[in-house]
Amino acid sequence: MGAVIGVVNQKGGVGKTTTSINIAAGLGILGKKVLLIDFDPQGNSTTGFGIKKKTLDISTYDIIMGEARPQEAIIKTRYKNVDIIPATNQLCEAELQLADAEQRNHQLRKIILQVRDSYDVVIVDCLPSLGILAINALVACDRIIVPMVCEPFALEGLAQLMQTVKKVKRSANKELQLMGIVFTMMDRRLLASNEIMRDIKRTFPSDVIFKTEIPRNVRITEAQSHGEPILFYDKNSKGADAYKRLSKEVLEKCREMEKKNEQ
Ligand SMILES: Nc1ncnc2c1ncn2[C@@H]1O[C@H](COP(=O)(O)OP(=O)(O)OP(=O)(O)O)[C@@H](O)[C@H]1O
Ligand SMILES: [Mg+2]
Repeated sequence: MGAVIGVVNQKGGVGKTTTSINIAAGLGILGKKVLLIDFDPQGNSTTGFGIKKKTLDISTYDIIMGEARPQEAIIKTRYKNVDIIPATNQLCEAELQLADAEQRNHQLRKIILQVRDSYDVVIVDCLPSLGILAINALVACDRIIVPMVCEPFALEGLAQLMQTVKKVKRSANKELQLMGIVFTMMDRRLLASNEIMRDIKRTFPSDVIFKTEIPRNVRITEAQSHGEPILFYDKNSKGADAYKRLSKEVLEKCREMEKKNEQ
C-alpha cells in the first residue's frame, strides 16, 4: 500500500505547488510510481505539468462529488512514472456543496482508497485554506509536508496548522503525522529569515525538518510558466538540484514509514 502525502500550508504562495510538482517528478525519476492529485481550484499543479484546463472533461471536482470514478480522471503526464488528477476552478463549488453533506470530510479519503494500491506514492497539492477541502486532505493523508517561507508570522501560521492536525488526528485520522517542514524560497542573505528559521528549528524536533532547503531560484518560476517541472526544464539549476535532494529525503522517510508499518 503506497504512502499518501499532503503538501499543506494554509498560507498562500509558500511553494506548496512547486514542491508537489517537483517531488512528484523527482520520485518518478527515482523509479517510484506517483499519482499527484491537484486539490486546489487554482489548478496550478495541473498547469505546472503542461495540462490545459480547458481541454479537461473530468477533474477533481467530478470525483469528489461522486460524479466520476477516480480512474476516469487520471491523466498520464509526459514524465516517467507520474500521473495526475487535474483540478479546475470548478472545485470551488465542492467546498459549498459539501458543506451540508454527511461524511463531508471523508470524500478524498474514499477516493484515494480506490487508487492508492496502484501507486508507490500519492501526493496531494492542497489549497491555501483550512476549510472543508483542506480538512479532506488531512483526513486522507498519512503524512504531511509543510513548505514554509521564513517570513514574519510564519511560526504563528504553523502553530495554527499543527492545532488543526492534532484535531483531525484525534477525531478522524490517527495515522496522520508531520513528515517534515521544508524551507522554500530561501535567501540566506536575509538576516530576518535566518532568525525565523532558527525559531522554527527550536520549536520542532530536528527529524521533522528537511535537511534540504530550497533556494530562491528564478528558473523555478520560468519552468512553471513553461508547464514543466524544474527537474526537466533546467536540470542543472540550483532549484532542480535542491528538489532532487528533497525527493531523496522524502523517499527515505517513506521507507522508514514502511518499516514501522511492517513492525
Ligand atoms: N524556490 C523558488 N524560487 C523562486 N520562485 C519560487 C520558488 N518556489 C516557488 N516560487 C514561485 O512562487 C510562487 C508561489 O509558489 P507556489 O505556487 O508553489 O506556492 P503555493 O503555496 O502553491 O501557492 P498557493 O497557496 O497559491 O497555492 C510561484 O509563482 C512560484 O513560481
Ligand atoms: Mg498552490
